[in-house]
Amino acid sequence: MRRPIIALAAAALMAGAAFANEAELARGAELLAPFKRELQAALREGLAEGPSHAIGACRLSGPQIAESLSRDGVRVGRTSHRLRNPTNASPGWVLPILDAYLANADDRAPRVAQLEERRAGYVEPIVMQPLCEPCHGDSLSPDLAQPIRELYPDDRAVGFHAGELRGVFWVEFPRDDAAP
Ligand code: HEC
Repeated sequence: MRRPIIALAAAALMAGAAFANEAELARGAELLAPFKRELQAALREGLAEGPSHAIGACRLSGPQIAESLSRDGVRVGRTSHRLRNPTNASPGWVLPILDAYLANADDRAPRVAQLEERRAGYVEPIVMQPLCEPCHGDSLSPDLAQPIRELYPDDRAVGFHAGELRGVFWVEFPRDDAAP
């Protein structure tokens, strides 16, 4: 006679988990939005002034924007399996998710992870676009190739094609059920 009760309890738990998952997906996307918006704006402004300005924009504003948005227990960043800047190395919890995206090119759905200390993580793929090719594609133009080589001697972020996984955005934040 106890089985139905256990089944009901399990169903309730699963519904609760699914609900938490949905809430964290929404929260992660919301926290990431300004980072994406500001990066995109910096890139477009830089490209309008000429590719070498865009390198500067990407180099200076990426880390700066990430830092300005990382407060109140929230951290945001970008990483990749083939990095240009080694300081963008992936936090440990992001690695298995990055691997899962690489293993299945059809899987581009955002994901959440439960982290220690009542924190949650959110990850979203970054897909290569034609706009990115001058700096991450097969053949960089000479005016870009040289400054990039000088700034990033260990650059591995070239040879990407439109539609390919370029990397991921990630966000860490306190879970809703965390004590204030
Ligand atoms: C004008 C050159 C330029 C263009 C165009 C450009 N990037 Fe970058 N990208 C860079 C530079 C420079 C860095 C290193 C930034 C840093 O030091 O954090 C970088 C870093 C990155 C990173 C962080 C991970 C890493 O490898 O260090 C990602 C992800 C990325 N770019 C994706 C893109 C995508 C997607 C596009 C197109 C929407 C794009 N980039 C367009 C120059 C460019």
